[in-house]
Amino acid sequence: MTQTTAAPAPSASKQNLVLSLRGITKRFGAVQALTDVDLDVHEGEVVALVGDNGAGKSTLVKVMAGVHPQDEGTITFDGKPARIGTPAESRDLGIATVFQDLALCDNLDVVANLFLGHEKTSAGTLDEVAMEKRSWDLLRQLSAKIPSVRIPIASLSGGQRQTVAIARSLLGDPKVVILDEPTAALGVAQTAEVLNLVERLRDRGHGVILISHNMADVQAVADRVVVLRLGRNNGDFAVADTSYEDIIAAITGATDNAVTKRATARASQPEASALPGHVSVAKTDAPEGETR
Ligand SMILES: Nc1ncnc2c1ncn2[C@@H]1O[C@H](COP(=O)(O)OP(=O)(O)OP(=O)(O)O)[C@@H](O)[C@H]1O
Ligand SMILES: [Mg+2]
Repeated sequence: MTQTTAAPAPSASKQNLVLSLRGITKRFGAVQALTDVDLDVHEGEVVALVGDNGAGKSTLVKVMAGVHPQDEGTITFDGKPARIGTPAESRDLGIATVFQDLALCDNLDVVANLFLGHEKTSAGTLDEVAMEKRSWDLLRQLSAKIPSVRIPIASLSGGQRQTVAIARSLLGDPKVVILDEPTAALGVAQTAEVLNLVERLRDRGHGVILISHNMADVQAVADRVVVLRLGRNNGDFAVADTSYEDIIAAITGATDNAVTKRATARASQPEASALPGHVSVAKTDAPEGETR
């Protein structure tokens, strides 16, 4: 059963459409990871990309990041047809992707991590002053709470590392920033910090694609939620007009299963429904009675 009826998304957003995918299909041998997937991102819009394990979220991210180019389908960027065949082509177009592992070097300081592979030089030597200044500029833009840019990444918290990875993605002045599960490993305060960062990115006009399993995060910052299920689109919702239960139903593909029953039960208890993020949508395939 598909769940595409509730609250159609405001695709006629006032903002400019930046990135538009149409009919994206991707196979890995016999595995059909994506079938005919559409996705739009506007300037200054946060789009949450959600779905159960194996729904195709990371594959879609990798298509946009140039890691796994699509087999079929078209991509339009800034109104022009685009080909994203390699990670460099994705970056050059104006798409920055922060992968879940962040790819930071623990033993290097913040400045070195921000400029890894893109070091500024002056008269043949590293221009540390210019790099440090640019680092502070970037972190200030994000209102980031980093005590010093000269401390090794190893001594930063998870949220601060995420901040550094996001700041690094902004060096190329991207129009679209893709964040793959940025809050997955974070505590409450650090999650709030990263969600603030996502809002900063939106305020600065970036289009943001946020992959998350946490509905509380999604409802806190996203403007729109795009649901993938079994590699296909299964809903495109305006967050403001959509209930938590509608999103969960689209993710699970059914209204009558353990997760949606629990969600409905919680919604009818006022104090419990204030914490919808406590139901993990990542585990919805567990048989009833075994929900974790
Ligand atoms: N490199 C690959 N080779 C073969 N199959 C793959 C590859 N990458 C992904 N798949 C398959 O494609 C499907 C979609 O996987 P994908 O990683 O995109 O899901 P996901 O939505 O990101 O899931 P999760 O929430 O678990 O991260 C799965 O069936 C997966 O096994
Ligand atoms: Mg994934």
